[in-house]
This record gives sequence, C-alpha cells and structure tokens, in this order.
Amino acid sequence: MSDSHVYPVMPSIAQKAHADEAKYQALYQQSVTDPEGFWREHGQILDWMAPYTKVKHTSFDTGHVDIRWFEDGTLNVAANCIDRHLKDKGDQVALIWEGDDPKDDATLTYHQLHQQVCQFANVLKDNGVRKGDVVCLYMPMVMEAAVAMLACARIGAVHTVVFGGFSPEALAGRIIDSNAKVVVTADEGIRGGRAVPLKKNVDDALANPNVKSIEKVVVYQRTGGDIDWHNHRDVWWHEATAKVSDNCPAEEMKAEDPLFILYTSGSTGTPKGVLHTTGGYLVYAAMTFKYVFDYQEGDVFWCTADVGWITGHSYLVYGPLANGAKTILFEGVPTYPSTARMSEVVDKHQVNILYTAPTAIRALMAKGNEAVAGTQRDSLRIMGSVGEPINPEAWEWYHSTIGNQACPIVDTWWQTETGGILITPLPGATALKPGSATRPFFGVQPALVDNMGHILEGATEGNLVMLDSWPGQMRTVFGDHDRFEQTYFSTFKGMYFTGDGARRDEDGYYWITGRVDDVLNISGHRMGTAEVESALVAFDKIAEAAIVGVPHDIKGQAIYAYITLNAGEVPSAELHKEVKEWVRKEIGPIATPDFIHWTDALPKTRSGKIMRRILRKIATGDTGSLGDTSTLADPSVVDKLIAEKESVV
Ligand code: WT7
Repeated sequence: MSDSHVYPVMPSIAQKAHADEAKYQALYQQSVTDPEGFWREHGQILDWMAPYTKVKHTSFDTGHVDIRWFEDGTLNVAANCIDRHLKDKGDQVALIWEGDDPKDDATLTYHQLHQQVCQFANVLKDNGVRKGDVVCLYMPMVMEAAVAMLACARIGAVHTVVFGGFSPEALAGRIIDSNAKVVVTADEGIRGGRAVPLKKNVDDALANPNVKSIEKVVVYQRTGGDIDWHNHRDVWWHEATAKVSDNCPAEEMKAEDPLFILYTSGSTGTPKGVLHTTGGYLVYAAMTFKYVFDYQEGDVFWCTADVGWITGHSYLVYGPLANGAKTILFEGVPTYPSTARMSEVVDKHQVNILYTAPTAIRALMAKGNEAVAGTQRDSLRIMGSVGEPINPEAWEWYHSTIGNQACPIVDTWWQTETGGILITPLPGATALKPGSATRPFFGVQPALVDNMGHILEGATEGNLVMLDSWPGQMRTVFGDHDRFEQTYFSTFKGMYFTGDGARRDEDGYYWITGRVDDVLNISGHRMGTAEVESALVAFDKIAEAAIVGVPHDIKGQAIYAYITLNAGEVPSAELHKEVKEWVRKEIGPIATPDFIHWTDALPKTRSGKIMRRILRKIATGDTGSLGDTSTLADPSVVDKLIAEKESVV
C-alpha cells in the first residue's frame, strides 16, 4: 500500500468474517464477470414465495432506461423481515428503543413485532388502504415508525416517510406528489428535550387546498400533548389497534412492485420521489448489511440515522431485520442530555456495531474526552460512517477515542438512489485508509469519467459513474420517468451519474471529493440550491437569491445566501431574522441559511445565468483566483461583492 496511513485488516476480524481478502476478490470477480449467476445465487438471502427464473434485465440506454431484477419472483418484505425468523428466534429481541430521556427504553421481540405489524396492517386496511396505495409516515423515532413501515410492506401499500424535521409546506408537497391516502403521525415528537408539533404540522399541511388525497390521519400518542382533533378524519393509533385482529396474511408481491418512495433533493426543481421496489431492494439491503457490517448472529446493531432518510430505511429497519438482527432505534440526539450520550447508549445496550455520520463525530470530537466520559465502549467491534466525506482527523478520533483503536471503520459511500451501500471497505478484507471509502461492493462497477464522458484509467480524478446496475438501484422518479433518465443517464450516455466527484489512488481506492452539481450536504442532509433559492424568492421582500455551500467545521457545509431585496426594502437585523424564519417555515430547520449576504446585484453572464463558481469563491474568501470574469454582463459587481463580504453575518 502506498499511503502512509494504512490500517491493515485485523486478523481477529478476518478469521470470523463473512469475507476475507481472498473471498472478496473471488466474489467480486464473479459478480462483475457473471452478474446473472452471482445474483441468482445471492438472491437466495431472501425467502421467495414463487422463485425467480429471470435475474437481471437492465438497460442504462438513454431513452430506454429500464431496470428490473428477479422480475418473475414473488415475495413479501415483512415476511422476510419478521415471519421467517419466528420459528428460531421468535422470543429474541428485534427492536430496541432508546428514548430521548435516558430513563426511557423498550424492546420488541420478533413475536411482538409480528403481532404489532399485523395489527397495524389491519388498521391500515380498515382505514381504506389497499395494495398499491401510498401511505405517508410523518413520525418521531418511536418503534411504531418501524411497525408502520413494515405494516405497509405487509399489505403491499407503498410508504413514503417524511422526516419529522420537515415543515408543513414540505410535507404538503410530498403528499401532493405521492398522492398519499393516509398519513400516520404522532401527537408530538421529543428530541433533545424539546417537543416537535407533528400533528399540528400535519393539520397545517392538510389545510393546503392542493392537498386533496388524504382520507385519514392515524395518530400515535407519544406525549399526550394538546392537539386539535377532527373526528371525521383523525384516528388514534391505540384505539384503532385495540379493535383489530392480529392475524394478517402477508401479501404476495411481485419483485418489481413498489416498496417505497423517498423524496430527495437534486440540483434542480422540487424534490424527487425516488422509487424503490420489493425484491432487488431487499436482496441488496440484506446482503450489504451482512457483509459490510460483518453481522454475526446475536450482534446488537445501532444506526443513529432517522427513519426519514434512506439510511434509516436500509440499515435501521430492512437490512438488519431481514438478517434477524437486533436493531436500535434512538429517539434522541447524540449530545443530549450530555456529550457522552452516544457512548452511554453503546455501553447500556452493549452495542457491537455502530453506524453514524461524520457531522455527529465532529460535534463530539469538538468536546474531546467528554464524549466518552465514564464509558468503556468495549462491546464495539465494527464502526461505520455515512453521509459525507469523513475527514481523516475525524476518522482517527472516531477510531481511537470512540472505538478504543479496536474496531475497523467502514466508510460507506452511497445515496438515496442507490438503495444500499456501493463503495465501502469490508471489515475482514479491506486495509483501511482514513478518508477513503475504498472499494466497490459486489456487483458494483464504478468508473471515473472526464467532463466529456471518457472513461479515465488508473490513478486519477473525475466524475463518479456506475457502468452497470445493481439490485438496490432506484427504478424511477415517481410519476416522472423522463426526469429519472434526464437526471441520472443523460449527462454521460449509458452510465448512471452519481453527481459526485472522486479520486482513485494507485491501489484502486476511491476517495469521494463531494458533489460536483448544485447539491449541498449540510450535516449529511442533502439540500438542493434551487430548493432553498425558490423558498427565498417566495418571500415577499426578496427579489433574487443565490445559494452556495461554504465549509463548516461540524456540519461539513453551511448555507451562504446572496440576497437581493425588492426596491424600497433595506437590510436589517430584523429582516435577517425574518428571512431565516421564513426558510425554516418553508422547508425546515436544516435549510436555514447560516450567512446572509445582502447585495444589489449578482454576477451574471450576458445571457442572465448566475455564475455560481464566482459566488462560491467569494463566499469562501478564495478571491485570489476568480478565473475568467470577462463573460460577466457587469464585471464590476465582483469587486462590490468582495467589499460587501466584510459585513456578512
Ligand atoms: C450523497 C447522498 C447514503 C445515505 C446518506 C446520504 C454523500 C454519502 C458518503 C461517504 C462521501 C458521501 C455523497 C452522496 N455521501 N455517503 N461515505 N463519503 N460522501 O444519502 O442524502 O442521498 O446523499 O451523500 O455526496 O452523493 P443522500
């Protein structure tokens, strides 16, 4: 290995691992030379109702993009995540819930989970939900969130989980686009000691006259806080479940029937409904969970993500449960009530595998040893990172301070669109380099291309693409297949474009350098610049806005907003606050601008296109190398912006 900071594979891990280096090499080779044979065999990680005879039917040809896996097989996701484990581990814990308050916790065994999922599936049916209908879940991190997802899967309903931190407007937009029939929510959520008014947000969203599809709102009682009630529409979770039987057969689904829609931000337009289907998604989630985290029977797995993100779908619920694992669902935040909370939870539940995000790691690192005060963390065996590039300094701290230098770190690169992990170390096979996501998972064929789409060989840097399909790949943008093709398959013909840039070193390791499009990554959350900009210009005092990302120590990136006010409006501290509150209300707290730069003019080309490249450089203070500004309609705006930057807060 060329680089100096290399952590060799730990022999103790390799000995027991599902894959050591020789096995990784052999399986990887087979997976790319004979994908059909490889996945025919590994599709057997699931129980199928009718076996598949067809395995792979995929095309990345622009104009004819078509992705199908295991298409003539049938199965049920809930049956694979629950029923098939009942015989051997019915009395074993499936879900561990850790409340926001360290005194609150609970568990569900596979039997109990089965019973609750069947009951709630019957509640959904009683409220008019049929196979193929869309159910919107706007839930706090309670076990019922997972129960509701699995209940949808059981009856063939399609869930769309909306992160509880999104605003009523953002929720309404997703309900309208998905045409959801029922919303499942809670009276309030609790995070970091503060109540989140979920039911009120749902009421506000449904007051939007364009929301017409919702027939019922099922409300889980989490806090008992005061809420408004609409008798014709609202249903209490506990009352409805008390009335139904706990017998509910699992619907036989085709492999390509939709399982869920999850909205994510892109560089243009409104959030896209990423559609994942049943068979391929679950095969891929189950298989990556087993190999990437080297899951061993009895392990306690903790993924700190919210179920509102793809990480919560694939590695909090579906991947772990398909493997019969014990998975922790954490209601709170890693730093509440104290900085040592994450470490305390690890000790309390004897966590073996911990999966978290660089932003959380950096926030803890800033507090030094306080983050581990009074804890041992000696149950940990494997640790993971996801969501954004992890800087080597944070990697080293995570490894030494949280992991006692005893655990390999899997830096897993993937996306909402990919369904599961694509580039990652395997604990028993891959020597680690801090900051590198290392090598492709089985069946994954990454490549780097230049801006013309030419494939680059050897150690190099370029745009990260995938040359062939894998079973967990998204199938379409819900309701807009053209947009799917345009977004992912038109930049580089015949290839899936990830939107990320990457470097490949002499050992073939990938180093993700970040987005090359207008997508920001704020604390591991994706945010489209266009989305924040359109929220800003919807504010009645704002004429024009442009958003760029600037580096931030904890969040990775922060939002820097250039704003031009309408004639007659003057910047003020008051307005600064108003604008921030507006964005919180329009999208949610994660989209709030960190910096506001009031300006009279933005740098535009003669055709009126805002030159973000220049705005990015000014925002980061990198004004020594602005590049060619001669194509600007008015080159003098640049000096003006640089001067104004002095007073930006
Ligand atoms: C974008 C996808 C996949 C679950 C969480 C985010 C960035 C994700 C890594 C990583 C470097 C990463 C990429 C990607 N990203 N993981 N390990 N190293 N960058 O899902 O919201 O769909 O965002 O997150 O830029 O494109 P998402």
